[in-house]
Amino acid sequence: CGIIGYIGNRPIIPVLLEGLRRLEYRGYDSAGIVFLEDEEIKIVKTKGKILNLEEKLFNDFPKKAKAPGLGHTRWATHGEPSDENAHPHFDCHKSLALVHNGIIENYYELKTKLIAKGHKFYSATDTEVIVHLIEDFLNQGIPLKEAFFKALKELKGAYAVALIHKENPDFILIGRNQSPVVIGLGKQENFVASDIPALLPFTKEVLFLNDGEVAILRKDQVEIYDLSGNPVARAPYHVTWDIASAEKGGFDHFMLKEIYEQPEAIKNTMLGRIDLDKNQIDFSQEGLDQKFLEGIQRFYIVACGTSYHAGLVAKYLIERELGLPVEVDIASEFRYRNPILDEKTLFIGISQSGETADTLASLRLAKEKGAKTLSICNVVGSTIARETEVVLYTKAGPEISVASTKAFSTQVLTFVLFTFYLKQLLFGENEKKQKIEALIKLPSQLKIFIEKVHSKVKTLAQKWYQAQNALYLGRNILYPIALEGALKLKEISYIHAEGYAAGEMKHGPIALIEEKVPTVILAAKETGIVYEKTLSNAEEVRSRRGPIISLVTEGAKEFQKISDEYIEVPLTFYEFLPIFYVVPLQLLAYEIATLRGCDVDKPRNLAKSVTVE
Ligand code: G6P
Repeated sequence: CGIIGYIGNRPIIPVLLEGLRRLEYRGYDSAGIVFLEDEEIKIVKTKGKILNLEEKLFNDFPKKAKAPGLGHTRWATHGEPSDENAHPHFDCHKSLALVHNGIIENYYELKTKLIAKGHKFYSATDTEVIVHLIEDFLNQGIPLKEAFFKALKELKGAYAVALIHKENPDFILIGRNQSPVVIGLGKQENFVASDIPALLPFTKEVLFLNDGEVAILRKDQVEIYDLSGNPVARAPYHVTWDIASAEKGGFDHFMLKEIYEQPEAIKNTMLGRIDLDKNQIDFSQEGLDQKFLEGIQRFYIVACGTSYHAGLVAKYLIERELGLPVEVDIASEFRYRNPILDEKTLFIGISQSGETADTLASLRLAKEKGAKTLSICNVVGSTIARETEVVLYTKAGPEISVASTKAFSTQVLTFVLFTFYLKQLLFGENEKKQKIEALIKLPSQLKIFIEKVHSKVKTLAQKWYQAQNALYLGRNILYPIALEGALKLKEISYIHAEGYAAGEMKHGPIALIEEKVPTVILAAKETGIVYEKTLSNAEEVRSRRGPIISLVTEGAKEFQKISDEYIEVPLTFYEFLPIFYVVPLQLLAYEIATLRGCDVDKPRNLAKSVTVE
């Protein structure tokens, strides 16, 4: 989601709309603004893109609109995209208005309490609890600023919030925890936004708010406090980027930005689903419970493209951990065969967009055949999400680049959580504390890895970007990652690449091996992953003079000896391997494609969402 706020003497609506247009890439399923009109709170919001909001305003332009004002463009997490669920949200008396970016994990608990106290809710969002919570403190006679601090202290999860109050029109209150907030400094005016692009038309002087901080934004002053109310000093920062590069957060392409966003996306996907005290995963609030799973004896996973590869990873996970059979199929094949499904089958459709025509048709077919249905989608309220009985959302945020990256890693993570959760439900087995702790640490470990491995991959790309063919080999859970690595390379660099099960190479692709065809081999020293067998496959390539680029877990010396290039991946649990291994392959495809001068974010002939057969 994207937030913009303004206090000053400019006409408020153009400022908010300009900011929102620059934030639209952060989410675009609904948008809204709030400002003061005749000293009252006035909210205009609508489902759809910012263009829809502009049209609504054009037809009935609020001529007396005044600052302070806030704007929001939404990427739905709780509650489907609709007029009601669009931000800003307001209290029972419409004296407060608030915009939020993030996920409130304990919203359900807070909402139940507030409803019991007589609060009336107008939306299905997690956000609305914040504004009612503040109202509740005001009702107790607590002054606004104190009420704001108190409310923030009760929230669990991620938030960037901005609030206005009609009785205090001389300031905007802002809070931050794990969701970005930037304050823009002007003369007799100040701004707030989710990121720098929204501020650049107005100012290049900014202040960053840190987690656990609150800012009070006035026309001529910005005060920052910690949550205990102690003042914090913060030096301004001068932005040197231009507008175009800023939209990509300083990255050259959306794809690279999205690769770097993976730790954050993974963290968001975990939020609210792990109970650390009990060492358990919890999807029950999303409708995945004992009752839903009753009688399920097998799984059918169906998807297209990168999502299909996440499905293949899931097969290895589920069969190994749950001992239940899993079929994985490409949607365009599934729908025109006679797939054998019944009420004992759980059909799982995976789709980032939730709109892919073949996946949707497969889902409808599975329903006709009586299977239970679940989907893993990134876009809230998308067709596939709406048509399945249970949907587990990946919380990757909008993925703009056609080649999927962060959607894939969050799909894989969702399956890891799903497998752990089913183990609890079906067999009463909790994961070891050590593994849950590793899971929690995954985002920070991944962040370090991405930064470290990127420079190594750049050097590698320099050497190999002129290749015309490439092979990607892996076994077990790394086999789907080999497929995904090859797909990434061919999608964006137009180099012919084949992903293969390493053990199958001798039955065909071995004929392609020669000095100019690099083979990317994935291997891990982890139980059940046939490390030695993969090593033998690497030897087979080597003895035919094929160059080897190997990706192996730390300390796998045997590979170092026979590889031309060598990338070390952190040693981790089996379940987490795919998330680490896919990163260098995404970066490799990206670096090679940029060296070849390809249009990385919009590769030829491809589309982000394929709604035709
Ligand atoms: C298109 C995109 C791929 C994506 C596939 C499936 O082909 O280019 O990146 O993996 O569709 O999309 P979905 O939204 O269903 O995951």
